[in-house]
Formats: sequence, C-alpha cells, structure tokens
Amino acid sequence: MSRRISSPQLIGRAAEVAALGAALADAQRGRGRLVLVEGDAGIGKTRLVEDFTAQADRARVLAGGGIPLASDTPYAPVLGILQALARLHPAAAGGLLPQEAPGRADPFGPTRLLAAAADAVRAVAAQTPLVLVVEDLHWADASTRGLVSFLARAVRENPVLLLVTVRAEELDPARPVSVLIGELARLPHAERLVLAPLEHAEVAALVEAITGVAPSARLTGQLVQRAAGNPFFTEELLAAGRTPSRCPRRSVTCWPRGQRSSRQQDSGCWVRPRCWAVRCLTGYWPRWRSRRIWTMGWLRQSVTGCWNPATMDTGSGIR
Ligand SMILES: Nc1ncnc2c1ncn2[C@@H]1O[C@H](COP(=O)(O)OP(=O)(O)OP(=O)(O)O)[C@@H](O)[C@H]1O
Ligand SMILES: [Mg+2]
Repeated sequence: MSRRISSPQLIGRAAEVAALGAALADAQRGRGRLVLVEGDAGIGKTRLVEDFTAQADRARVLAGGGIPLASDTPYAPVLGILQALARLHPAAAGGLLPQEAPGRADPFGPTRLLAAAADAVRAVAAQTPLVLVVEDLHWADASTRGLVSFLARAVRENPVLLLVTVRAEELDPARPVSVLIGELARLPHAERLVLAPLEHAEVAALVEAITGVAPSARLTGQLVQRAAGNPFFTEELLAAGRTPSRCPRRSVTCWPRGQRSSRQQDSGCWVRPRCWAVRCLTGYWPRWRSRRIWTMGWLRQSVTGCWNPATMDTGSGIR
C-alpha cells in the first residue's frame, strides 16, 4: 500500500494568504469579516486555512466542521466550537451545551442557542480577536447552516474573522448549502476566495518539497497533465509511483465530477463522477460521497489501468 506524504511548506497561495491577512487585520480593528474559501476536493482549502491560522498573531482560533455525518445531527460539526465558547465564556455555557438544552416543549430553544452563541462570540472576541473556522459547510446539517448564517451577520461589528470552507463541486444550485453560500457571499463584509489549481512551477515546487528532489520537466508535465494542479491528486500520484522519478502509468484519467479543468479537456483527459469509482470497486452506486473511497477507485484505475469502459455509461464520451 502506498503512503501519501505532504509538503512541509505551503506552496503558492501567496495572494490568498494576503487576502486572509487583510481580512484578519480588518477583524482586529473591530470590523468583522467573513471569508468563504471555495474549491474542488483536494485543492487545498484546509491546508490554506490551517497554515494561515497557525501563523495568525494576536488572535484566538476556534475551529470546527469537517465531519461527514450520515444523519442530520444538529450542530454536531460545530460542537467543539460551542464547547470552547462555553468554556471561555461560562455565562453562555447553559445555552450552548447539549446537556443544558431545553426540552422539546420550548419553542425558543434554538433561538436561545443562536443568541447564546452570538453573545459568547462577542464576549470572547472582546478579550482577544477571534478567528472562527467552519470547515466543509457542504456536509453541515440544517441547524449548523442556520448557526453559520446567523453568526456571519452577528460578527460584522466585532473583532471576528469567520472562515468557512466549502467544496465547489458540492455546490449544486438545488442544495440548501448553495443557496446559503450565495446569500453569505452577498453580505457587505464577505469575500469569496476560490482556490485555483496549482500552476506548473508550483507543482514542481510541491514535488520538490515532498521528495527533496527537483522533478524532471517530464515528470512535472505528467503530473500536471494527470492531476491538473490538484495538490491532493499530485500527492497521490507521487505516493502511488513510490519514487520521485516515476509517475504511475494508466490509460484513462478518472476525475470526480466538477474537477475537469480546461487544461484537462485540452489534454484529452475525461472526467468521470467519483461514484463510478465506487461502483467499479463495490458494484453499488453510492448514496454518499467519500474522498477515501473515490480515491481508492481512482488510484486503482491509475495504477493498474483496470478501469473497464464497458461498465461505464458510454454516453460519457470515454476516450
Ligand atoms: N498549497 C499547498 N501546498 C502544499 N501542500 C498542499 C497545498 N494545498 C494542498 N496541499 C496538500 O494537499 C492535500 C489536500 O489538501 P486539503 O486537505 O487542504 O484539501 P481540501 O481542499 O481541504 O480538500 P477537501 O475538500 O477534501 O477537504 C493535503 O495533503 C495538503 O497538505
Ligand atoms: Mg478540507
């Protein structure tokens, strides 16, 4: 089994780090900001936010989200944030923690939680500017989406930077999360940061940072062609190739829905929904999406070339 290794340094993303820095500076001056970090799976949303918050001076960071729950468990992705707020602002503890939640009979229970969360955020931010990170909003339940929507407005006049990450390919216009993102992006203190694939030179820098060896132009070209500048897939290809000088051979590239760049189209690669990878492996169409599963399918095809076009919808135009 191959092992994926990440670059110790953040490659590229200077403009995005500068934008986040400017947003934090605004927040530190009491002008709350909301930044929506968007991009395909594996493009580096989490990495950007983690590297940025690790360097953030004079700010307290509370992070949550990133949990792909099968059921709509209310507030589960942000439970850690609520617990931290309750710890930092004990007066709000009663309203924020599940064990203190009122019974079903209280019609204002959810409203009280929103009010307690906003009060706690303001109180904690009054001590030290606050960076709130909510990862992977596309997986969030309706209650968490409601809380994010409420806080996004509540932070405006406070020293708070709210960072929300979301996968671009999950933004199907029919989904409530897409409606929410659209609404949030229109707030006057909001900004959308859409992460693009890494450039050719950045892919070379990523490989060098991972392997310690500057890649040949040929290897870089292969990686750019096959992973289209996506850092996660570049790492996977390197790990599957096992040595810095090799890139796995395969005949057809499989990509999750929404990840075909114009560069890929030009280079003749074809995109397939990730669920096909799951179907190829398991025989079932998936009801849910999991990066690990579709990566397995994609890797299997990348490494062994055993993707069987006959099992595909031939209307997809396989080349
Ligand atoms: N700019 C970068 N420099 C170095 N490594 C990067 C960069 N961007 C991403 N990576 C690496 O690529 C991998 C995937 O990145 P990350 O998990 O941040 O993607 P993501 O956009 O959050 O994906 P998902 O939507 O699945 O959460 C990680 O191992 C990360 O360290
Ligand atoms: Mg992520």
